[in-house]
Amino acid sequence: MRENRSARVFSTRLIDWQRHHGRHDLPWQNTRDAYRIWLSEIMLQQTQVGTVIPYYARFVECFPTIEALALAPLATVLELWAGLGYYARARNLHRCAQAIVADYRAEFPRDLQSLCELPGIGRSTAAAISVFAFGHRAPILDGNVKRVLARCFGIDGFPGSAATENVLWSLAETLLPAKHIEAYTQGLMDLGSTVCTRRKPSCEACPLHAMCIARLDGRQAELPVARPVKVLPERDTTLLLLTDGNRFLLERRPPVGIWGGLLSLPEGTGAGASEFARRHGCRLLEAQVLPSLKHTFSHLRLNILPLLCTVKATPHLVAEAGWQWLEHGEVDTAALPTPIMRLLKTIRKSIPPTRD
Ligand code: ADE
Repeated sequence: MRENRSARVFSTRLIDWQRHHGRHDLPWQNTRDAYRIWLSEIMLQQTQVGTVIPYYARFVECFPTIEALALAPLATVLELWAGLGYYARARNLHRCAQAIVADYRAEFPRDLQSLCELPGIGRSTAAAISVFAFGHRAPILDGNVKRVLARCFGIDGFPGSAATENVLWSLAETLLPAKHIEAYTQGLMDLGSTVCTRRKPSCEACPLHAMCIARLDGRQAELPVARPVKVLPERDTTLLLLTDGNRFLLERRPPVGIWGGLLSLPEGTGAGASEFARRHGCRLLEAQVLPSLKHTFSHLRLNILPLLCTVKATPHLVAEAGWQWLEHGEVDTAALPTPIMRLLKTIRKSIPPTRD
């Protein structure tokens, strides 16, 4: 009984707040087109609205339908995705489009279970699509929503743990209103990203402030509980950065595994650099050890030791299959892992272009 009442207060205040203070004109709103809604939800999974908007516009322009996306080469999809990061999303997006075209005659399935079985669509994304495209009642629970619920209801425990996540899913289910599911769902998303922010939440502007346990107890900074610190294994890797002054030599990574399908620098050794350059039609002029970079994956801390190899390339050199000479000016738009993109941008500033 009490639970129902607090659920009603929660949803009523949130819906009312969304109507007055939420977002209503995002490019993927005011449509029931499941393709566009799905595309936006995948892009928004780990990326903020402001960053997503131009990417979303380019995708919709290049791929106006799910068939167009399914038919495109993966490399084109990855190039359009370049800079958004978390490239597994782009690979899954492509696979998902192909599955929907092949298995569902290019129409998104309408039931939650079938949506969840598609590549890249988890329970929360499936629910967001169900709500916005089909008007179904289903709970979402992304990182922002976990924060809102953990604070408002004083949920202790790391939200990434199975036990706490189960508690949060049950709560999300209990709170669903009978009506206005779209405004409610959008309200949760908007509140989490604009008011109930991770640092310095604007509690004075929050429609839930009178019932929020974290605010009443002054525990906004402690909730949600932080991820327990995990000691990750470390690995050193030497990456060879060949340049002839105008271009960098890059290797396409295998489609699965770390940085799958992206262009990256090959692993090698200082001792093997000369032979490596020769195999690619170049003569090594100079090798220079650059400052190391650290990159943390979920399972590993990688210590990247870049070796800048300045080479003389044979004229009209063409890269072998799986390899690509990338002009310095092409770095910004190539599908590169973020630390490699950063490294290449730094290096190209310090290399004077050569003319041959
Ligand atoms: N975050 C995830 N989905 C969103 C949406 N549809 N609108 C705004 N932010 C979001």
